[in-house]
Formats: sequence, C-alpha cells, structure tokens
Amino acid sequence: MSQIIVEGDGLRVRRMANDSTDVALMAGWLRDPRVLEFYEGRDRPFDERLVREKYAPRAEGGPVVPCIIEETADRAADHAQDPGDDRRTSAKRWSPVGYIQFYPVAENEAPYYGLTDSAEVWGLDLFLGFPERWGKGLGTQTLRLVLGYLFQQRGARRVVVDPVATNARAIRSYEKAGFRRVKLLPQHERHEGRMRDCWLMEAKKGPRCHEAPGPTGFGAEIAERDGA
Ligand SMILES: CC(C)(COP(=O)(O)OP(=O)(O)OC[C@H]1O[C@@H](n2cnc3c(N)ncnc32)[C@H](O)[C@@H]1OP(=O)(O)O)[C@@H](O)C(=O)NCCC(=O)NCCS
Repeated sequence: MSQIIVEGDGLRVRRMANDSTDVALMAGWLRDPRVLEFYEGRDRPFDERLVREKYAPRAEGGPVVPCIIEETADRAADHAQDPGDDRRTSAKRWSPVGYIQFYPVAENEAPYYGLTDSAEVWGLDLFLGFPERWGKGLGTQTLRLVLGYLFQQRGARRVVVDPVATNARAIRSYEKAGFRRVKLLPQHERHEGRMRDCWLMEAKKGPRCHEAPGPTGFGAEIAERDGA
C-alpha cells in the first residue's frame, strides 16, 4: 500500500507510520502549548507514550486515516520555475509540517454532527505543527488537496469539519478551501475542561466528478494532474 495519499504543488499527504520517527514528530508538535490551544488542549500535553496509545493504532488500519503533511524545501522555488525546467522532476526532499486525519462518518455518528444522513460523508481534522507557518495559506492548500482526494478517490459527496466557534483562523481557512458554515453545534466538544460551541462546516462535491467547490483553479489543477 502506497504511503503517499495525495501530492501536488510541492505539498504531499502521506500515511503516518507506526514508527519511532512519526511518533516523536507527533509528540513534539502535541506538547507545544501553542498547538495544544487549538488541538487536543493545553491540559492534555502529549508524550511519546500517549501518541503511541492514541495515534499509532490508527496507523495500523481502521476507519481513521492518520497522515503527515509534508512540503518540499524548495516549494516556493518550484512555483517560479518554468514547466520545462529539469529541476521540477529531480528528487525532492520532504519536510513534515503537520498532521491531518480523515474518516468516513459512520451512521451512528451522524447525530453527533447534527446530520440526518451520513451516506458518503467524510470528516477530517488537521493542525500545522509549527505556529510560525500559520496564516500563510498552507492549511488551505492542504485542505484543497485532501478534498480533491476524498471526492475523487474515496467517493465522498460531502466532507464535514467541526471547528470550535472561536477558532477564527481555522474557520477562515476552511471557508477559503470551499467549506461553508452549516449550523452552530452548541456545547459540542470538550476542550480544555469546558464544553464548546462548534460550527458544523461542510464542503460538497462540485458539479464535475473530481471537483471540490471553492476558489477558481482547484478543479483545473486536479484535472491537469490526472490528465483528465
Ligand atoms: C487551522 C490551520 C490548519 C489553518 O491553516 P493556516 O495555514 O494557518 O490557514 P490559512 O493561512 O490557509 O488561512 C487562515 C486565514 O485566517 C486568517 N487569520 C489568521 N489568523 C487569524 C485570526 N487570529 N483570526 C482570524 N483570522 C485569522 C488568515 O489571514 C487567513 O485568511 P486570509 O487568507 O483571508 O488572510 C492552522 O492555522 C493550524 O494548524 N492551527 C492550529 C490548530 C487548529 O486550529 N486546527 C484546527 C482545529 S479545527
């Protein structure tokens, strides 16, 4: 089974491995209070044992697909290069920048999201592990890549996320990627010891079979990669 889930424009999403490298990577990110403030909670710092308990089993299979987001060191340079430039096809070095997981929403989980129907609905969660990289478009780009993959290759018709209502940066990033707010879910998620209101947000598969709604060019990008 390929470890690479989807790749494009100097960014890729690969399966997390149940090995010491990925466990250490996740523990490093999930002990940073700046990350924990928005993901897992500052009252729940991780160490390698906790990552092995919670995330490593997912890497062994199951409905939740845990993935590491990676980018090429020369991603910015890639943008500037001529398509015929040989350097575009040379071996790339990939650096981990974050985590994303996705999963089919099971029928019995539909009420949790306030959904009446979970058919072909997928959920996802993500964080970028380096706060200095936040707010620069990386999250939106990752989401577009993964939405294209879920719509095109996993048969998703709808993808949902449920950010805490005060997480304005995440909500904005999701909107840029093609999600829209559907409904407020009061007292939906326990975070740092308190139940929080969350937004149910949804991205629907676009009119073309492989297309996610959202900014112009996304569908074209996917089509080009697939030779469609
Ligand atoms: C959520 C996350 C993945 C988004 O990725 P990102 O690369 O930071 O997001 P983007 O840069 O693509 O988009 C962020 C948008 O929010 C804006 N923004 C940044 N900080 C903001 C803030 N404090 N309040 C409101 N908007 C903010 C940015 O300006 C940008 O919008 P713009 O392009 O219109 O200017 C990333 O910020 C992250 O990992 N955050 C911590 C963990 C987390 O919140 N995970 C989500 C849990 S649901």
